[in-house]
Amino acid sequence: MRQYSLVIIGFGGMGEQHYRLLEKHPLLKVTGVCDINLERQSEAKALGLKVYETYESVLMDSSVNMVLIATPNHIHKEIAIAALNGKKHVICEKPVTLNSHELEEILAVQEKTGYVFMVHQNRRWDEDFLTIKKIYDTKQLGELYQVEQRVFGSRGIPGDWRKNKEFGGGMLLDWGVHMLDRLLIMIPEKIVSVDCYLSFALKEEVDDGYHLRLIFESGKSAICEVGTTNLISLPKWYVTFTKGTAIVEDWFLNGKIVSLKNVDNNDARPIVAGAGLTKTMAPRHDDSTLTIPLDKVYKDHKEFYTNFIDVVEKKAEPFVKNCEVLRVMKLIDTAFKSNEIGQRIKFED
Ligand SMILES: NC(=O)c1ccc[n+]([C@@H]2O[C@H](COP(=O)([O-])OP(=O)(O)OC[C@H]3O[C@@H](n4cnc5c(N)ncnc54)[C@H](O)[C@@H]3O)[C@@H](O)[C@H]2O)c1
Repeated sequence: MRQYSLVIIGFGGMGEQHYRLLEKHPLLKVTGVCDINLERQSEAKALGLKVYETYESVLMDSSVNMVLIATPNHIHKEIAIAALNGKKHVICEKPVTLNSHELEEILAVQEKTGYVFMVHQNRRWDEDFLTIKKIYDTKQLGELYQVEQRVFGSRGIPGDWRKNKEFGGGMLLDWGVHMLDRLLIMIPEKIVSVDCYLSFALKEEVDDGYHLRLIFESGKSAICEVGTTNLISLPKWYVTFTKGTAIVEDWFLNGKIVSLKNVDNNDARPIVAGAGLTKTMAPRHDDSTLTIPLDKVYKDHKEFYTNFIDVVEKKAEPFVKNCEVLRVMKLIDTAFKSNEIGQRIKFED
């Protein structure tokens, strides 16, 4: 059985995470790393890995079959294009590039050279997303009205390159690509419009959060929100369907599904609420709803790497297709534009 030699370019937090995940992979062997930081080079040496000081030297090494790019975002394009021209297959971290035009440049080289280029959209494998997607796919709660996904933290933007525009920092690029990627594979519809508001609460040069809304062709709507100044979190997922509501509270998959039973639309009685009276918002009787736990879905994210090898060997289609990533990047471009002009923008006809 053939083993492929892979070099990780950018051996920081995520680069090392890939190394750990690949430690026992039967087909992919991390043989070396490239990092410009001396401390990271020493760490790699201590792990018995070959160290390359520049990515160009990795590309000159004919024993290397593939590279994984885990540098800060601004340099993904340059390294990806050089690697494809240097006859290496490429896995690239997200966000793949800073905008869709940069990705188109990579894809033109990919097409010309025929080497595989695949983006690590790993949050497709998150159990919270897979759990919500199953409810959507099986229609157990009927048709979707609105999906809301949120990620809130309270530590601001980490004090590294993520704070800088020139390095591709900011939360819309960082988390937006995950959130939109997941929505687009879950809801296979055209997107009519995008509306985005970026937050600069921390007065950094890049956004520290965002509120983004998509309207799909059928009228379904999606809200994505990220905050880095939130000491109290809202649920990760809050989804309303024609026959019920699902909630995922947190990373630990606390949550529930509430659906309708014994529906009687004439049983609403006004209640005194606050300083007023409401019939519309009167709670339902307990016997008209059914509450069940989430049917949690887990899938091994390491199948991403195996699929990559299968694509290299022309045995499978990529799990993460470049056309999907390009669509997300176009959506990100449009979201930035929407924030800039302060308006909702039409997306796909
Ligand atoms: N998919 C995910 O879940 C996930 C999570 C975190 C980060 N990421 C992505 O991974 C990438 C790296 O993020 P990180 O958190 O590991 O950052 P990091 O700062 O921890 O690591 C980046 C490393 O790249 C090195 N580097 C910088 N320029 C280089 C160059 N020209 N050549 C070689 N090495 C260079 C730095 O010295 C550093 O060690 C980013 O694109 C980020 O968005 C993805």
